[in-house]
Amino acid sequence: MTTQTEDGVIINLERKINESYDIIIGSELFPGIAQDLVLLKDESKISKFAIITDSKVGPLHAVRLESCLIEQGLDCRTFSFKAGEKNKNMDTVTRLLNQLGEAKYNRDTLILALGGGVVGDTAGLVAALINRGVPYVQIPTTTLSQADSAVGGKTGVDLPAGKNLVGAFKQPLRVYMDVATLDTLDDRNYRAGLVEVIKHGIIQDTNFFDYLEQNMDRILAKDKEVLIYLAKQNSRIKGTVVEKDPNEKGLRRILNYGHTAGHAIETLSDYELLHGEAIAMGINVAGTIAYLSETGFGPEDLGRQNRLLERLGLQIRIPQHITNKQIIEKTASDKKAASGKVRYCLPSGIGDMMEFDGVYSMPIEANLVVKAIDMCR
Ligand SMILES: NC(=O)c1ccc[n+]([C@@H]2O[C@H](COP(=O)([O-])OP(=O)(O)OC[C@H]3O[C@@H](n4cnc5c(N)ncnc54)[C@H](O)[C@@H]3O)[C@@H](O)[C@H]2O)c1
Ligand SMILES: [Zn+2]
Repeated sequence: MTTQTEDGVIINLERKINESYDIIIGSELFPGIAQDLVLLKDESKISKFAIITDSKVGPLHAVRLESCLIEQGLDCRTFSFKAGEKNKNMDTVTRLLNQLGEAKYNRDTLILALGGGVVGDTAGLVAALINRGVPYVQIPTTTLSQADSAVGGKTGVDLPAGKNLVGAFKQPLRVYMDVATLDTLDDRNYRAGLVEVIKHGIIQDTNFFDYLEQNMDRILAKDKEVLIYLAKQNSRIKGTVVEKDPNEKGLRRILNYGHTAGHAIETLSDYELLHGEAIAMGINVAGTIAYLSETGFGPEDLGRQNRLLERLGLQIRIPQHITNKQIIEKTASDKKAASGKVRYCLPSGIGDMMEFDGVYSMPIEANLVVKAIDMCR
């Protein structure tokens, strides 16, 4: 109730919201998705379906998904933008908003984000903005988006000033992980996305890490049964962290393991390296810092971590042309702080992260970081 005060009015807007959602995991899910959406339409105000996808996933998968929906009598259209991180920007968002607006996609719309993390992040932001927000469903089609970006409700795009600088927390209505879509993903993206999977093992779950060690060959062979198991474990691990800390106040930071140095390396490579490829190097750096700081993450743990990353066929050594100074400067939040301390998320063993002063990151001196980087060359 609105309260009158001496110098004005208080608007009381305390409210409970329930943003729970299902993640449905399997293979060849498209016909089932269409049937689910018929039920959703009957029990909600949703009457229009907009698939947002990119120029690569469009012909491979969106055409098929659209026909499944149309076969079920649903009103569905596909809106596509050019594939690539370069296009994860406000121009694309504006164009999509205009296209949806012109096609009269109003409050009765459900957006289906079909693609990798670029599509998920962009379409999620469009869903948060159009008509002050409509529901959206994530249908991730890369190893990275199935392991990471489709769960958690972070949406957003890049600005010229930097990556992911504009966005919104917007939880999906549902997520469908169809491992069959991974069949068409190129080998490089397939392997790079699996770095986030290894990250999940290190930050939360020893048994899962063991499983990855034992089943890496089947994972690389795209064995469906194994991929379904992976998607389930990844969703469970990321979901547990997000549930405890939906707005990234503390615990959720552990998901950034390897991302401090990793992001710097990714930018310094001029995005020649894929996200996962740079994060693999960042995980090597952070693991080495943990080992040097005696967090309990010993040489054996570091060895196991790095061997598993290398089994993905990834380079975990930092390229010589990226200098220590550049990495130190990029990781410092402002240039003046470059000689000061930067916070790193550090493991205390395989399956456990260090808690330091109630937070899950630790300030590390630049000279220790340099020592670790040198050991990772
Ligand atoms: N929201 C989050 O929490 C979160 C977390 C991690 C990463 N991200 C974001 O995710 C993005 C990276 O995601 P990504 O690695 O999936 O990249 P991406 O979406 O660019 O996909 C990689 C490439 O694969 C193509 N592709 C996608 N699915 C395919 C398929 N099934 N078959 C053939 N080609 C396919 C795409 O068109 C693209 O060319 C980054 O922008 C990153 O910031 C977001
Ligand atoms: Zn990442």
